[in-house]
Amino acid sequence: MSAADPASAPAAPEVVLRIRDLHRKLGGKAVLKGVNLEVVRGETLVIIGGSGCGKSVLLKHIMGILKPDRGSIQVEGRELVNLPVRGLNEVRKRFAMVFQGGALFDSLTVAENVGFSLAEHSSMPWHKILARVLECLAQVKLGETDADRARIAAQMPADLSGGMRKRVAIARALAAKPEFVLYDEPTTGLDPPTADAINDLILMMGNEDDRRTSLVVTHDMASAEKVGDRIAFLFNGRILSEFPAPRIGEYLRRTEAEAASFSVDERRLWAFVKGHADRVLEADSQDTRVLRRLLHAPAAEEAEA
Ligand SMILES: Nc1ncnc2c1ncn2[C@@H]1O[C@H](COP(=O)(O)OP(=O)(O)O)[C@@H](O)[C@H]1O
Ligand SMILES: [Mg+2]
Repeated sequence: MSAADPASAPAAPEVVLRIRDLHRKLGGKAVLKGVNLEVVRGETLVIIGGSGCGKSVLLKHIMGILKPDRGSIQVEGRELVNLPVRGLNEVRKRFAMVFQGGALFDSLTVAENVGFSLAEHSSMPWHKILARVLECLAQVKLGETDADRARIAAQMPADLSGGMRKRVAIARALAAKPEFVLYDEPTTGLDPPTADAINDLILMMGNEDDRRTSLVVTHDMASAEKVGDRIAFLFNGRILSEFPAPRIGEYLRRTEAEAASFSVDERRLWAFVKGHADRVLEADSQDTRVLRRLLHAPAAEEAEA
């Protein structure tokens, strides 16, 4: 085939989510100060950033839970900001969010939690919803047999371990076969083997449908490197840099001496990546004190102002 044959040309990456100049103040403080971000169909983009830097706030804007003071959020070219409720609900149906800590409904059974969006947004009869619930529980590897899963489906969230609750939260996101899945700190608070099992589920969700686009917010560097195609670093209310996920491993290997030759922004990123890896290894080394200083140093332009 000739290079000019359009059928042989690789499909151009399709930007499905475009965020432009997003600003939002909360509690009198500017949290988002001009976020720009593009997400391509089918990819998993991981947003990393320090605690309290606005990662959850950004996800809530994408879900339409919060409104920006200014800026734009487009899904497939359709503006979400100021979209009437009906239009917003239509877009929202295509999104699923796995909230920080799972955020299951405590007074509902596992089956009711997982089947919730199907019951709300479709006219599917309950026995079909239940079949889908059991299928989703199997996909997230809850229970070994149908009988196990039927038993788990009837349980209350409070009766489950943290890892099982996270699996239920992912099953709930999966139930309506969303095109976009947003995860807020999916591995936080889990022991390393359970966290890694959740990473595998995030990969499975992405691979199940190659048109599915995922956004993962985390400060777990192992998770970011494993599940991400690309990483975006949120710092001081803006996306400071974007890079392919394997670069996380490269930053982890860079020493402080090597980082001395980095640009200020790259040093911030290095300090963040290292700080979060080192914190797991060593609680309060000289190194992490240096990192902390770097992370909390004001931006050069602000220091001059
Ligand atoms: N509803 C709110 N009212 C006031 N301040 C808020 C609200 N939600 C978030 N914030 C503040 O916005 C900042 C970013 O929060 P968040 O996005 O939750 O951080 P994280 O990056 O840890 O997810 C924090 O300083 C937080 O205190
Ligand atoms: Mg958060």
